[in-house]
Formats: sequence, structure tokens, C-alpha cells
Amino acid sequence: MTTAHAPGKVILFGEHAVVYGRPAIAAPVTEIQARATVEPAPPGQGARIVAMDVGQQFLVREEAQENPLARIAQLTLRRVGQAPDPDLTITITSDVPIARGMGSGAAVSTAIVRALAAHFEHWLPSREISDLVYQAEVLYHGTPSGIDNTVIAFEKPVFFVKDEGWEFFWVGSPLLLAIADTGIQSSTRKVVSDLRRRYEADPDHYRLLFDRVGEIVARARAAIERGEVARLGQLMNRNHRLLQAMDVSCPELDRLVGAAREGGALGAKLCGAGRGGNMIALVTAETRGRVDMMLRLAGAADVIVTEIR
Ligand code: MEV
Repeated sequence: MTTAHAPGKVILFGEHAVVYGRPAIAAPVTEIQARATVEPAPPGQGARIVAMDVGQQFLVREEAQENPLARIAQLTLRRVGQAPDPDLTITITSDVPIARGMGSGAAVSTAIVRALAAHFEHWLPSREISDLVYQAEVLYHGTPSGIDNTVIAFEKPVFFVKDEGWEFFWVGSPLLLAIADTGIQSSTRKVVSDLRRRYEADPDHYRLLFDRVGEIVARARAAIERGEVARLGQLMNRNHRLLQAMDVSCPELDRLVGAAREGGALGAKLCGAGRGGNMIALVTAETRGRVDMMLRLAGAADVIVTEIR
């Protein structure tokens, strides 16, 4: 039996604009993990996936065209020379909340790749894991930028530009983030495609918004490297306003963002696709307790505090 895991993620700056070629910054969230376990199965079964959290089980060969989990398993089995259909059971559990902007799809896929590679004693470099997971992400999200699979496969904060690549960078002083869940599921595919329609109807307007996000992301990277947390908070607030202007926020996210700022957060913004899912607030050791309380009073379904370093 072989088990592997992979973390969730947050986008610190630049979601959505990243789909249009502007840079974005994301970081892993190790407090939440997806796990995959591979065990031998009776002869003739083939490869079966048991997804505990969603109460589903299916055969890889039957679902690989549309189901991202079956697809990633099939791609990995081919990559490690085990195609077409070895007898094994892959069991998945995850505490990365589904459809909340925390990278649940990429986390589960990464755990599957790692568990299958380890089971067959293959070492795959993170870059290759990321590329494999991207192919499953396409089934989840349609036109993903690739930021989720990159940050989760490498498990490091990244400065990412679609089709160009990514860089790791120095985190000058650790960042303390409160991550609060609206409790509302949101489909990244739908939010991204709705924004695409608005962009196509008025490209000049949206290009301007994306450019302004791009400038914020560049400044945010410099502020993170220099450990300028107060400045970073202001940049988060500005990024959130631009996301509101793109119409990807929602009243519940705006309420949590407002509550975090009232509680003393240095800045706050939605993270991920928006229209539900999670938001992040930049806190300190002194403000984290109060911000956590304010977020819960404002209706947060859950709050996690994580340190980015
Ligand atoms: C989703 O985590 C982030 C988005 O920018 C979509 C993407 O980058 O593919 C909304």
C-alpha cells in the first residue's frame, strides 16, 4: 500500500488577470491536504478509484475521457509504463474544500500522481507532475492558467506568468494569513467563462483592469521580498477592488473582506475564482484572534490561519 498527499493553495494576487497573461502570486496551504492511497486489487478488476468524500467509485478505463480523476490516473499509469489497466484501487480523501478556490482539483490530482509514481517506484520531477496535473485541470476548468498545478506540485510560493513560466521568490518576513470560507461552492469554469464573455463584449475596459492587476502583482512581489507587510495589505485591498470591478466578487465575500478589515487585518481580498469560495486577510500575531472572531461573526463557515514563508 502506498500513500501520498498534496496541499491546497491560495492565490495571493492576480487571479483572473493571470488567465489573460498578467502575472499572479500563489502559495501552498499545508494545513489542508488531499491524500491518495494505492493498493493492489484482485486480478481482472482493473484500476478503480474510490473517492471517499464525494461517495463515488468508478473504473479508470470507463471514465478517463471526462472524469479528471480517472484522466490523471490514466495519464500517470501510462507515464510510469503501467498502461493499459493494472489491477489496483486508488482511494482518495481530501480536506481541501471542493469548489472554494483552494485548488482541490489540482491537490487531489497531484496526490494521485505522487501515489501511483511511488507505488511503481518511479521518481517524477515536480515539473513533470505539474504538467500531468495541468491536463486534468483542463477537464475541471476549461482554460486554466496553470497556476494551481504549479504551486501545488512545487509546494512553494510562486510568481507565475501563463505560457511563460514561473519563479520562486524570497519571502522577506513570514506572512500570516487568515483564510475564510463563505461556505458557497463556486465553479471556476463558470466564473472564468462568464468573465470571458464580458471581456469579449468590452476588451479595452477589461484589458485596463487586468493591466492594473498586473502592476499590483509586481509591486506585491517586491513588498513580499522586502517584508513590507503594511504595504502588502494595501495592495490586497486594491486587488480586491479590481476583482469587484470585474464582477467576480459577491456580497458574502465582500462582507467577509469588510469584517476582516474591521477586525484589524492589514488587507483582505477574495482568493481564487470568486462568486463564493474563500477570501484571505493579512493578519499579525496580535490581530489574528480578533480577525478570526470577526470573520466567524460575519458568517464564515470556516477560518484557517496559515503562515507563508
Ligand atoms: C483559480 O484558482 C484562479 C483563476 O485565475 C483561474 C486560473 O488561473 O486558471 C480564477
